[in-house]
Amino acid sequence: MVKICCIGAGYVGGPTMAVIALKCPGIEVAVVDISVPRIAAWNSDQLPIYEPGLDEIVKQCRGKNLFFSTAVEKHVAEADIIFVSVNTPTKTRGLGAGKAADLTYWESAARMIADVSKSDKIVVEKSTVPVKTAEAIEKILTHNSKGIKYQILSNPEFLAEGTAIEDLFKPDRVLIGGRETPDGQKAVQALKAVYANWVPEDKIITTNLWSAELSKLAANAFLAQRISSVNAMSALCEATGANISEVSHAVGKDTRIGSKFLNASVGFGGSCFQKDILNLVYICECNGLPEVADYWKQVIKVNDYQKSRFVNRVVSSMFNTVSGKKIAILGFAFKKDTGDTRETPAIDVCNGLLGDKAHLSIYDLQVTEEQIRRDLSMKKFDWDHPIHLQPMSPAAVKEVSVVWDAYEATKGAHGICILTEWDEFKTLDYKKIYDNMQKPAFLFDGRNVVDVEKLREIGFIVYSIGKPL
Ligand code: NAD
Ligand code: UGA
Repeated sequence: MVKICCIGAGYVGGPTMAVIALKCPGIEVAVVDISVPRIAAWNSDQLPIYEPGLDEIVKQCRGKNLFFSTAVEKHVAEADIIFVSVNTPTKTRGLGAGKAADLTYWESAARMIADVSKSDKIVVEKSTVPVKTAEAIEKILTHNSKGIKYQILSNPEFLAEGTAIEDLFKPDRVLIGGRETPDGQKAVQALKAVYANWVPEDKIITTNLWSAELSKLAANAFLAQRISSVNAMSALCEATGANISEVSHAVGKDTRIGSKFLNASVGFGGSCFQKDILNLVYICECNGLPEVADYWKQVIKVNDYQKSRFVNRVVSSMFNTVSGKKIAILGFAFKKDTGDTRETPAIDVCNGLLGDKAHLSIYDLQVTEEQIRRDLSMKKFDWDHPIHLQPMSPAAVKEVSVVWDAYEATKGAHGICILTEWDEFKTLDYKKIYDNMQKPAFLFDGRNVVDVEKLREIGFIVYSIGKPL
């Protein structure tokens, strides 16, 4: 039986390995992590991440050919193929701080693999890493090899949260990069055979190592660039009376452009777009390409602009002050169908409103109060470095309440901000909400989920991204 071990039981490692276990009954999959609570949660009924469809798969495979464990060294030593899916956050200090990827977690995993291995291994980069990382990993492994042979492959992951299981079942493509040597190609074929259990062969692309590593950064940069493009247009729509939904629809009908990923929003969030673009910018700068670096930097700048534009719109509409006013925040996760808050635009919007002394009442379907409070008190880039967790700021705690119902959140509020596109927010009883709010009642839709005309008929003053005021 082929044995796979995945180091890192997070948003990528957990779902990816669960799907491999489901689709490959002949493979034994162990997912290992240094985090004891995370592994305990994977072994319980309350999985550490919320992802539609994941519970059923884990229940079906756990204990059969899928195992979650903190016995990292044991499982690594036994495995034929080792996926490394640890976090690769933005560096917070030292050379490249605020831009470069922090490979501390990756390097410690690689050193551990070198320490405990007693047989040849295929080591797979699943984490998103800077181009040329495989070369560094190869150095660490081969210089400590004790005669063991390692093949490094790049197999970046393209799943999106909220649709991870769907994406893993039917990926647009699986990308595998390896060395162009006979041993390298043998390793590529071994990994290809794993995916071939359920992915059609024509969807499995093989490339050299550097193309695979760079394609992942490129794909995320292109996706984020689309959102910044549509968000930049949304500002122009508001200034001219054009409607961003109509513009997106018309633009997306061009088959060369396509209709997906053209929803204007309060800004993109998530653990990867910003970090991966910053990483790309840093790589360009290090390679003497300042013009290319500036081009990609602009994607982040427009995203920051969109978030602050939203806050400014709220404050200026509400007579230039939100001091002491209750603002209901509907949605805190970075997108619907996830409880993940990493880099969610809600953090910047909430902090902006708190800066103007607003009182916030926050409701999200999946995010816990503890998580919201932690997020609002953390410094930028610290969120993905668990060991550097910052203490909570008392100011943020005092002026924020977290509630478990949209009607409770909006009761007595002066304004509402919709920051996540949860389906529930489309079907709320807005007449009931309006009746229980202070007047004039403002609604700022950062996700374009509400029917603007209907709400205006009820009496709301509505601001929707990129729509006529
Ligand atoms: P995560 O933070 O959810 O999970 C990473 C896990 O690795 C954590 O549980 C951590 O405890 C563990 N870990 C860190 N160092 C370790 C070590 N030395 N030994 C054992 N465990 C260790 O991160 P994630 O969202 O799963 O992302 C992982 C990687 O995948 C990142 O590089 C990210 O860019 C990339 N990625 C993420 C997504 C996504 O949707 N989240 C999608 C595609 C790619
Ligand atoms: C994204 C990519 O879509 C995945 O392919 C990639 O694997 C992943 O990053 C990663 O590397 O981590 P994810 O961040 O989970 O996935 O979610 P997306 O659906 O891409 O949404 C990202 C952000 O953009 C969200 O805040 C979302 O609300 C926003 N968005 C998305 C928009 O504002 N408009 C859109 O049209 C689409």
